[in-house]
Amino acid sequence: MPEVPHVRPRRLRQPAFRRLNAEIRLHPAELVLPLFVQEDAESPTPIISMPGVMRHSLDSLKETVQVAAAAGIGGVMLFGVPTAKDAVGSGATDPDGILNVAIRAVVGEVGDALAVQTDLCLDEFTDHGHCGVLDDRGRVDNDTTLARYCEMAIAQAASGSHLLGLSGMMDGQVAAVRAALDADGFADTALLGYAAKYASAFYGPFREAVDSSLTGDRRSYQLEVGNRREGLREVLLDIAEGADIVMVKPAMGFLDVLADAAAVSDVPVWAYQVSGEYSMIEAAAANGWIDRRRAIEESVVSIRRAGADAVLSYWALELASWLQEN
Ligand code: PBG
Repeated sequence: MPEVPHVRPRRLRQPAFRRLNAEIRLHPAELVLPLFVQEDAESPTPIISMPGVMRHSLDSLKETVQVAAAAGIGGVMLFGVPTAKDAVGSGATDPDGILNVAIRAVVGEVGDALAVQTDLCLDEFTDHGHCGVLDDRGRVDNDTTLARYCEMAIAQAASGSHLLGLSGMMDGQVAAVRAALDADGFADTALLGYAAKYASAFYGPFREAVDSSLTGDRRSYQLEVGNRREGLREVLLDIAEGADIVMVKPAMGFLDVLADAAAVSDVPVWAYQVSGEYSMIEAAAANGWIDRRRAIEESVVSIRRAGADAVLSYWALELASWLQEN
């Protein structure tokens, strides 16, 4: 027998300690539910590649945000699916465009019970499917795009969005949008910088969800998957430009970047558990290959453990209902 007391970490893994000794505990308030709303839809339509997720009509969107508020989750992130698209994404800045209409409907429904958040990006509204406008050689033009983002920000803020999700990965987007909002009297509208957004294969199902027109990829603006240091650089830039919250996306493949960001950030750090992360677990569970509920809980706990203060997850409502049971 050793002379020093035997070290027994297993002691605290006994049933009586299991809950008490948990370092991470999920709470509905730190969950944000992404929601899709389709222009001119009479009823919700299922998204085949994301079993259980719908493209909402305005009516079903309103019902869902009531449920979300009652479930006590922290917020919703809205994505619009317009009927018409063009080169500059006109629908994004039209006050009667689907996303701006949806903002007013949702805020009217839930007020401040949820943080109403909106995707601030052109890709759902452009006929070429890129996150920005193109120059005469077909390349995504950074600074022309910034001007469109500023107009989009004003439209969303005027409609009542609490938090604008800058997901387009244009250089200087946070600073440009902040200045435009402040100049127009929207100093209270907050900015979520999708600071480190990687060019990921895991956005695949989302492209169906928003009926994306994209051919090719987003490698000229989204980060190279292998670049950890650059992820942190983007996070620091967004903070310096005035982001109120920064985000890492996708989540599970980028927990190192998330931990790096959480270690230095003086603003909240969030993570987006993206469509492919969702569909992968749903598909495996549907085949009986993994325990669905445990896999979902483990995935979100892991994202929190790596340093996310809040998580965007398509399971936000289901997770909240499980947390209620506990
Ligand atoms: C861009 C945007 C995307 C996602 C959120 N905002 C798609 C992309 O960058 O191609 C993906 C979210 C998901 O996969 O769940 N507006």
